[in-house]
Amino acid sequence: MVFMVLGRTLSIASEAPPEQAAALRALLSSLEIRDERLTPAQLEHVAVEVAAQPGLWRDLVVDSPDRRWWIVLHRTANYEVRLLSWEIDQTSDWHDHGGSSGGYLVVDGSLEERYRARAGADLRERRLEAGESGCFGPAHVHDMAHRSGRPAVSIHAYSPPLTVLTTYEETPYGLTTSGIRLDDDRD
Ligand SMILES: [Fe+2]
Repeated sequence: MVFMVLGRTLSIASEAPPEQAAALRALLSSLEIRDERLTPAQLEHVAVEVAAQPGLWRDLVVDSPDRRWWIVLHRTANYEVRLLSWEIDQTSDWHDHGGSSGGYLVVDGSLEERYRARAGADLRERRLEAGESGCFGPAHVHDMAHRSGRPAVSIHAYSPPLTVLTTYEETPYGLTTSGIRLDDDRD
């Protein structure tokens, strides 16, 4: 399946093997997701529902100490679901989501999220243990990092699907932009 999102051609509807991709499609269609932008709460719900069916994704997890690992489990024009693993010292670094909203659930291990609070220079952090979920809107800027688990595993949903992200660096004066990154940059 090939479709357009924000002017980009996305050729990958799922990187899961065909049978699992079909089962994921069936699960997600049972949620009766409408063909529109999903809210953060809806995205969190999607992540929770997918996480509750480990038979659909558990055997796909790759433990990679060398690079951050993830795959697309399901992608349509209005949302996508990804499976991520996190090893020691691995971090997403500071980034936004290019206007997308997101929801996630930590399946194994724990992650630490540092995030920008409403006031520009106000950075906060929280630890996310296995079983904990969360969500964020289109303005969210954060840095997620491994804290425990070999590997830590999490499931994320985004709407619309990620395209181009802005990266940031921390300065004494707050976060400043440092570049852009394509959503499929896996380093
Ligand atoms: Fe993120």
